[in-house]
Amino acid sequence: MPVRFAKKNELERVNELRRQVHELHAAGRPDIFKPGFPPELRDHVDTIWNDPGQEIVVNERDGFLCGYAVLHRINKPENPFMHKRDYLDIDEFGVDEAFRRTKVATEMMAFIRAYAKENGIQRIGLNMWEFNQDALAFYETMGFATYRRYMETDV
Ligand SMILES: CC(C)(COP(=O)(O)OP(=O)(O)OC[C@H]1O[C@@H](n2cnc3c(N)ncnc32)[C@H](O)[C@@H]1OP(=O)(O)O)[C@@H](O)C(=O)NCCC(=O)NCCS
Repeated sequence: MPVRFAKKNELERVNELRRQVHELHAAGRPDIFKPGFPPELRDHVDTIWNDPGQEIVVNERDGFLCGYAVLHRINKPENPFMHKRDYLDIDEFGVDEAFRRTKVATEMMAFIRAYAKENGIQRIGLNMWEFNQDALAFYETMGFATYRRYMETDV
């Protein structure tokens, strides 16, 4: 199956994809993201791998990993002002530059939806940077809608 969970020996390739996403963020918001891919960012993939609450999904075409997603199950207990929340957060998501607009991401999103359904999860969430209009167009095509905003202004 092209879309599946990653294997441990694929984490290096997953990191190449993670690097592409980080570079995009650093180019889009150089005031926030530092350029490069430091060891802390590289090694974070091991933290994800070792966390039972997180999963790494990959899309493989002709033996090549061309897309990845990091899923994080979030369970927030009820508190005096909020109901309990249980949802699947897409923490990271990216497709290799060379494979974009070939439905790699669409296939991954179908897999993620099916996974959520199988696990009794009712909602999938994610956050994204406003400069990233390509990602916004994709997520909206997939049926995502904005429910919360971060705003800023120069002083
Ligand atoms: C956003 C991203 C994941 C989309 O992946 P993709 O595999 O190219 O997307 P798909 O081919 O499955 O696109 C499905 C549909 O979404 C919409 N879409 C996807 N990318 C789009 C873009 N750049 N502009 C406008 N619409 C877009 C289109 O409707 C597209 O269908 P079409 O190609 O038949 O018109 C990919 O561009 C990417 O990895 N970007 C860099 C990393 C990134 O931004 N990650 C998200 C961080 S929050």
